[in-house]
Amino acid sequence: MHDIIRQLAEKRAAARLGGGQKRIDSQHSKGKLSARERIELLLDSGSFEEWDMFKEHRCHDFGMADQSVPGDGVVIGCGTINGRLMFVFSQDFTVFGGSLSEAHAEKICKVMDHAIKVGAPVIGLNDSGGARIQEGVASLAGYADVFQRNVLASGVVPQISLIMGPCAGGAVYSPSMTDFIFMVKDSSYMFVTGPEVVKTVTHEDVTAEELGGAVTHTSKSGVADLAFENDVEALMMMRRFISFLPSNNRQKPPRLPSQDSADRLDYSLDTLVPDNTNKPYNIKELIIKVADDGDFFELQREYAKNIVIGFARMDGSTVGIVANQPLILAGCLDIKSSIKAARFVRYCDAFNIPVVTFVDVPGFMPGTAQEYGGIIKHGAKLLYAYAECTVPKITVITRKAYGGAYDVMASKHLRGDVNFAWPSAEIAVMGPKGAVEIIFREEKNDPAKLAAREAEYKEKFANPFVAGARGFIDDVIMPHETRKRICRSLAMLRDKKLENPWRKHGNIPL
Ligand code: HXC
Repeated sequence: MHDIIRQLAEKRAAARLGGGQKRIDSQHSKGKLSARERIELLLDSGSFEEWDMFKEHRCHDFGMADQSVPGDGVVIGCGTINGRLMFVFSQDFTVFGGSLSEAHAEKICKVMDHAIKVGAPVIGLNDSGGARIQEGVASLAGYADVFQRNVLASGVVPQISLIMGPCAGGAVYSPSMTDFIFMVKDSSYMFVTGPEVVKTVTHEDVTAEELGGAVTHTSKSGVADLAFENDVEALMMMRRFISFLPSNNRQKPPRLPSQDSADRLDYSLDTLVPDNTNKPYNIKELIIKVADDGDFFELQREYAKNIVIGFARMDGSTVGIVANQPLILAGCLDIKSSIKAARFVRYCDAFNIPVVTFVDVPGFMPGTAQEYGGIIKHGAKLLYAYAECTVPKITVITRKAYGGAYDVMASKHLRGDVNFAWPSAEIAVMGPKGAVEIIFREEKNDPAKLAAREAEYKEKFANPFVAGARGFIDDVIMPHETRKRICRSLAMLRDKKLENPWRKHGNIPL
């Protein structure tokens, strides 16, 4: 028995070394941790249960018959983060470049199947050269098996990808179907075709970093949500991030009560909106001042900055925040911001996270670039997302709520549960200047008359009371009591039940 136990220990030690110490050292020299070191940092100490440590590939071609490495380039299993169950796979670049073989794919599928069965998140740590070239179509089939599970798990359990090395070719489509993608700066990249192919086909000279690095995907393409400086920071932030999410679509996110009183008032908010309605201000100031302990986990902060999205807690419970940002493009809705917010609202809806919306929006962005780019279709995504959403929806209009954008931004008409306005709110079809120039066109050569008309329009519409008189606004609130009023509304809505009519699925404009 001693011998058997010793042999097992030796086998385990060999498997833990993956592609060998030299390759682990090479991984370290690139500033990257090994697949196992990453899991150790991600999960609670000692909680990891590993499976399929001895699984090997079954390929005999291209000299692979005598080149097996136990585990076959991916470490899988389950463990906990702050005591909550998580399923994890971590690709091991030291083994055939972390490439995905049939066996490697089977391992990933195994954790995903378990996660769906028991209702716990899947965290994927990606570091892979893509399909195992020696295995041909078997590895492509493996990818498809993973893709299929990504889709079946979507909206059932949270799926989060952390890209910590290469992720290229069709391989990108697994992370892209997960809920959130985080990347590590300077050591990770994602692209469908690499720089060489780009050069051949489009004659563009571009580096891997420029084409698909963390900065590119968090600021230009919007493919990734956040970029972190290194592996350690990324893993620590992943631990923090997951605390905002429920384990599955039947649960609510865990409550994390804080010392921050739900009734806390903040008088500095009374002067947040400038006197001049065309002057910008930073909406994040409001978000931070109403959130528990000022803690706001912003997503996609470098992309489509005219809308702000992210998670916070209010009175201990997770909320999804969506807010127009007057600092950028006056907070108007354009293609990118509509898509960004729409996907976020749908995430919150799928996972029982109430949505708090702060509105200061002058309308949709005009111009040929927007129209040719399909703002009609893409703007509709946000409208659709808010309209189908059944979780508690609380809206606060701080200033402008003009035109179609008023309707879109979680208005009462889209089943907003509690709709507040600050006294500075202006709810109208459009701004005063544009409005009088249209309805009093014949007076356009008479500036004095036009100014009087503008003043009359402002008096009549640049306030929240016309909407309030119709019940489209439940109350006009003091800015300093915003947190208190939202927390009370959230408490009131805690057991909200609302169901949409049965259907196979809706047909959101894509
Ligand atoms: C088999 C692979 C591999 C792969 C890397 N390796 N990628 N083995 N299949 N896809 C092996 C290398 O041969 C090498 O083995 C070891 O991993 C480390 O790779 P290096 O090239 O030395 O590392 P590095 O210089 O850091 O370059 C990393 C890399 C490069 C940029 C990822 O390896 C690369 O370009 N690989 C091929 C990428 C690719 O074209 N994959 C297919 C994409 S298409 P040795 O023994 O020499 O150390 C795809 C389709 C998916 O994935 C479709 C889904 C629908």
